[in-house]
Amino acid sequence: MTSENSLYLPPLLSAQGAVRLPGSKSISNRVLLLAALAEGVTEVRDLLKSDDTDRMLDALRTLGVSVEALGENAYRVTGCGGNFPVKEAKLFLGNAGTAFRPLTAALALAGGSYELSGVARMHERPIGDLVDALRQLGADIHYLGNEGFPPLQISPAKVEGDTVKIRGDVSSQFLTGLLMALPLLNRIPKIEVVGDLISKPYIEITLAMMEQFGIKVLGGEWRDPEMLGGHYRSPGVIYVEGDASSASYFLTAGAIGGGPVRVEGVGRDSVQGDVRFAEALACMGARIIMEPNWMEVRAPESGKLKAIDLDCNHIPDAAMTLAIAALFADGTTTLRNIASWRVKETDRIAAMATELRKVGATVEEGADWISITPPVEIKHAAIDTYDDHRMAMCFSLAAFGSAGVCINDPGCVAKTFPDYFAEFAKVTQAVPVIAIDGPSASGKGTVAQRVARELGYHFLDSGAMYRLLGLAAQRRGIALDAETQLAELAGQIDIRFEGDNIWLDGAKVSDELRTEETGAAASKIAALPKVRAALLDRQRAFRRAPGLAADGRDMASVVFPDAVLKVFLTASAEARAERRYKQLMEKGMGANIAALLQDIQARDERDTQRNAAPLQQAPGAGLLDTTALSIEQAVNEVLTRYRSVK
Ligand code: DC
Repeated sequence: MTSENSLYLPPLLSAQGAVRLPGSKSISNRVLLLAALAEGVTEVRDLLKSDDTDRMLDALRTLGVSVEALGENAYRVTGCGGNFPVKEAKLFLGNAGTAFRPLTAALALAGGSYELSGVARMHERPIGDLVDALRQLGADIHYLGNEGFPPLQISPAKVEGDTVKIRGDVSSQFLTGLLMALPLLNRIPKIEVVGDLISKPYIEITLAMMEQFGIKVLGGEWRDPEMLGGHYRSPGVIYVEGDASSASYFLTAGAIGGGPVRVEGVGRDSVQGDVRFAEALACMGARIIMEPNWMEVRAPESGKLKAIDLDCNHIPDAAMTLAIAALFADGTTTLRNIASWRVKETDRIAAMATELRKVGATVEEGADWISITPPVEIKHAAIDTYDDHRMAMCFSLAAFGSAGVCINDPGCVAKTFPDYFAEFAKVTQAVPVIAIDGPSASGKGTVAQRVARELGYHFLDSGAMYRLLGLAAQRRGIALDAETQLAELAGQIDIRFEGDNIWLDGAKVSDELRTEETGAAASKIAALPKVRAALLDRQRAFRRAPGLAADGRDMASVVFPDAVLKVFLTASAEARAERRYKQLMEKGMGANIAALLQDIQARDERDTQRNAAPLQQAPGAGLLDTTALSIEQAVNEVLTRYRSVK
């Protein structure tokens, strides 16, 4: 189900449980830099372990700062009192804006020669406003690529000044970087923010962290933070709060999937602005409990989220999650004042619009807004994630639609939340599947169908899909080894399952499907990997609430590896030949038992020996030998096993 580049998330029924959040990215990288700039030793606990924090840790080590791991998520940083031991270095900062911007400012005022670069996307993210501000103080910064963008060359310079002007309307990280660097000067200049400051809550985080490191900010007003002089001093031990932006995915899961879902490590007392995401979710009707250090969400009383029209300037990152919550709302949701989305890991407005359309939403976008009208039914789609962790985490929530979702390049969540999908799986409950695999004519189809009926579940006869394809190929004159052509046909053929009837190209084919000839054709084409891959989505589409019983050869191993119950149902070849013989006689079709036995043995051989998903008892599948059992007994045995694992 999970290939290296794509993760299939099955349709989800509900969400319930608790998650301990990883440390906040914004706080982690600020604290690391402040600890490095401070006098004294700082023990940083609950630090986020992620690509972005790894970039900062690497950079600090390169700059000669002693950073010592103290076991799980804890580090001892020996501060250098604003004087980095290494005066000449090249730093590679990946796509970590929270490392790039503050390090640019600190190094520009630190009196050394430094080259700062990142991945290609980092070189498309603007930094001119920060460089302009630092140059007013005398910093010597040179653009190595395009004017206004990384990479940068910083050279030693005499730095001082009374006032510094900085633009605040592109990214708040520029002001954050400047603020954190200014205590390196002997006299702190006055700051003038030009234009409207966006993402103000991130500045609050910056000021709160600086205070912890001994810089008192008078007035605390973002527009004119008047600082007392002095230098950073270690607070000794510092704990990093849970990540409020990461909380948004779990809170939304609770709002869509019933809940309650609790996030631990961040709550009412948080310094992170993104905790106010909970208020936005409350506007959509979700029921929220907020305590100092945790939050909990349940779905609205009515069960359905309400569409909203919201200015999201105060929660830029978490607002992306609202765009996905909008898929489950009762009308059109509009998110405004989100221009900063365009200069993040990717152009998030464009990316969001493209991917939301794939699942069927109607989306409109402007320079700094997006509006989303949900589809009647959320469609299955393979979602591209643009190397943007938040795109991947947001779209996991689309699995609450009835068709599940595929996330391409799921590994990109490592930027801020490497264990995201495992944690997400812990608090969500997927539509349950009972997988019954086994050889031809073992009775697994009949058993699976009856189990489905008993439970009110859907039923998938996957063998019928291969048979249908074999039949369609023969009718169209396509050779049974023309892999590419057959795979194409698999994606296109018009098939319909209705009760006991199966339709191909608008005509009933149930009887024709069961002939030995069609079975043999199915067995041949089933050995072709491209054909199997092409039928995968069509088979998974049968997984719908309230549940599915599926029979075949690879239900437990490939198609539904997360099946709640896995049964390997078999019987001796002789017993199977006899059953098939009786079946055919009942239908008035002639049959020869010796020939049937031979056919079954040949098919067993081929299905077991093939390379692509060979017939075998999957790990975790329980054997059920029905040679001496009636159908009723076999059905009851499966139901008993299901009740014991459910
Ligand atoms: O279960 P059946 O006899 O209707 O299956 C027909 C053929 O399709 C059988 O030879 C094996 C193949 N098959 C498969 O490879 N994978 C499945 N999940 C189901 C059937």
